[in-house]
Amino acid sequence: MEKTFYITTPIYYVNASPHIGHAYTTIVADVLARYHRLLGYRTFFTTGTDEHGDKVARAAKEAGLTPQEYADQISEQFRSLWPRMDITHDYFIRTTDQNHVKTVQRILQNVYDKGDIYFGQYEGLYCVGCERFYLEKELVNGRCPDHHTYPEVRKESNYFFKMSRYQQWLVNHIETHPGFIRPERYRNEVLSFLQEPLEDLCISRPKSRLSWGITLPFDENYVTYVWFDALINYLTSLNYPDSESFRNFWPAAEHLIAKDILKPHGIYWPTMLKAAGVEPYKHLNVHGYWNISQSKMSKSLGNVVKPLDLEDKYGLDQFRYFLLREMVFGLDSNFSEEALIQRINSDLANDLGNLVSRTLSMAEKFTNTEVPTPSEETAGDLSLKQTASRTLESVEAGFADLAFHKALIAIWEFINAANKYIVEEEPWSLAKDEKNRQRLGTILYNLLESLRVIAVFLSPFMPATSLKIGEQLGIAGAAGQDFESIKEWGGLRPGNKLKKGDPLFPRIEMRQAENPAAEKVPLPIKPEIPYEEYDKIDLRVAKVVKAESIPRSDKLLKLTVDIGETRQIVAGMGKDYKPEEIEGKTILVVANLKPVKLMGVESRGMLLATDAEGGGLTLVTFDKPPEIGAKIR
Ligand code: ME8
Repeated sequence: MEKTFYITTPIYYVNASPHIGHAYTTIVADVLARYHRLLGYRTFFTTGTDEHGDKVARAAKEAGLTPQEYADQISEQFRSLWPRMDITHDYFIRTTDQNHVKTVQRILQNVYDKGDIYFGQYEGLYCVGCERFYLEKELVNGRCPDHHTYPEVRKESNYFFKMSRYQQWLVNHIETHPGFIRPERYRNEVLSFLQEPLEDLCISRPKSRLSWGITLPFDENYVTYVWFDALINYLTSLNYPDSESFRNFWPAAEHLIAKDILKPHGIYWPTMLKAAGVEPYKHLNVHGYWNISQSKMSKSLGNVVKPLDLEDKYGLDQFRYFLLREMVFGLDSNFSEEALIQRINSDLANDLGNLVSRTLSMAEKFTNTEVPTPSEETAGDLSLKQTASRTLESVEAGFADLAFHKALIAIWEFINAANKYIVEEEPWSLAKDEKNRQRLGTILYNLLESLRVIAVFLSPFMPATSLKIGEQLGIAGAAGQDFESIKEWGGLRPGNKLKKGDPLFPRIEMRQAENPAAEKVPLPIKPEIPYEEYDKIDLRVAKVVKAESIPRSDKLLKLTVDIGETRQIVAGMGKDYKPEEIEGKTILVVANLKPVKLMGVESRGMLLATDAEGGGLTLVTFDKPPEIGAKIR
């Protein structure tokens, strides 16, 4: 039977522009799609936008547009972003598409006819300003987070889906299909949720309150609840129910989401499918959250990172590599431009970039810019080949476990093995004597073949880089086409014309990071505190008597300060100040912080400095030095 693979991303709300979180999920889906194509699977990859519901209706109102106009604009931002990220989706769905509206209505009618949808009353907390119900947990001190008013208890008649009816079936299904929801922590989360009785799901909104949605086929006074509408996109994309696409791809359905939407995908969706008489999806794959400098990304914090800014500044494959290498699938990760630059300079420019440029330079110099013919093999050659086969196994295992970082670590082990091979074999020494010609040819062949293998390994992750390496090896386009071709060493044809290219990854000076991609807005002021809280802090004028570097740390300095008594303080100033620049300065110190040890050195107190963005630290000092030990009020 033909091998098929169906991969989906969430369809993103059109109430905000795309950010790094959306880019991550979609890039992971793309990496998976490309990988499966390389393995010969017939693959279908879909993404799109979720356009109905009150979130979107309200965002449109704020923007002074109709919901449709607003959805058109933001949906287009997503649609035009994906080609810039080298995303190879086969279908882009919008929930306002007519074929989707029809599919949703068809399923609703089907479930209704079956008796799994009933009319009933909903009682909840309603904010008149927002024109919507709130859950207790969404309120702030019992008030609406937007209007700061207390919501009123309201009753509303609505349609309900008998989700509770499928609770036990779902528990059994999850228990008998261990990989159904993965990684395991999310499977356990869903199972633990299912230990409580499941309530039925309210799947309608009266048009008098919200008209932006898909009309229920059995009551035109109501629209469909946005999640019941949105989840069905995964079927619409395959032309459910009577298409070949649906028959071929649905049994291979892999959903990719972040943990924020686990409940709708892990509970609503399988029970909806069951009610509609459709087999459950194959796997739900759940990843963690990208945080920015340790905090949640949010518009109000002004730390939303936009993928295009990063692509512009650092290059697309650099960005794709970073996302896949840095996040452990399933866990949260922290994004910072410093970490991105670090990866570019060390993994990409140093390890991979150097390997490619050194190999091509030597091949140009020592051959007539052609792939040489290899001859007799030595132990060193064999070891390099063995590393290549081990890498293949690790890459396959990494993909099977969604451990993309492990696959990349394995590829880098091979890159480093090839770099080490150069150092050990010293082709430049062999080149000095004509009698070494054959051995030199073998070494260069092995290095060029290593580059081909690397290009194939990297092609799902860094497609443009893979192609560029292929071009340098004279196999334009072909390097990334076939995973089979790396199972045997020696796929690169002797005689191929080589063509050295520009450096693949220019090094980035840290200074370029001074203008971070995050939108710059002033940091929000922390919540107010009463005077007594502030008064607990003992701030003192201090003089730095002595400053020394701490061995093995380029950041920490050990300071001896006089605050009326002598203290030792460890400060993270080493990147911005030399010890001699601090000695003698009159500074400000928090004198009553609990002592801590930093790199084994005790610190009793903390000095004050400002961390101007990108500009490094600046000490707080005095223009007229006051008395040492004086208290600051
Ligand atoms: O929830 N880190 O849309 P949405 C990682 N329309 N991924 C993130 C992220 C972050 N900080 N923030 C968002 C919806 N994502 C619904 C989905 S599907 C039938 C309907 C990604 O625009 C991640 O994939 O809020 C997450 O699940 C999704 O964006 C939520 O997108």
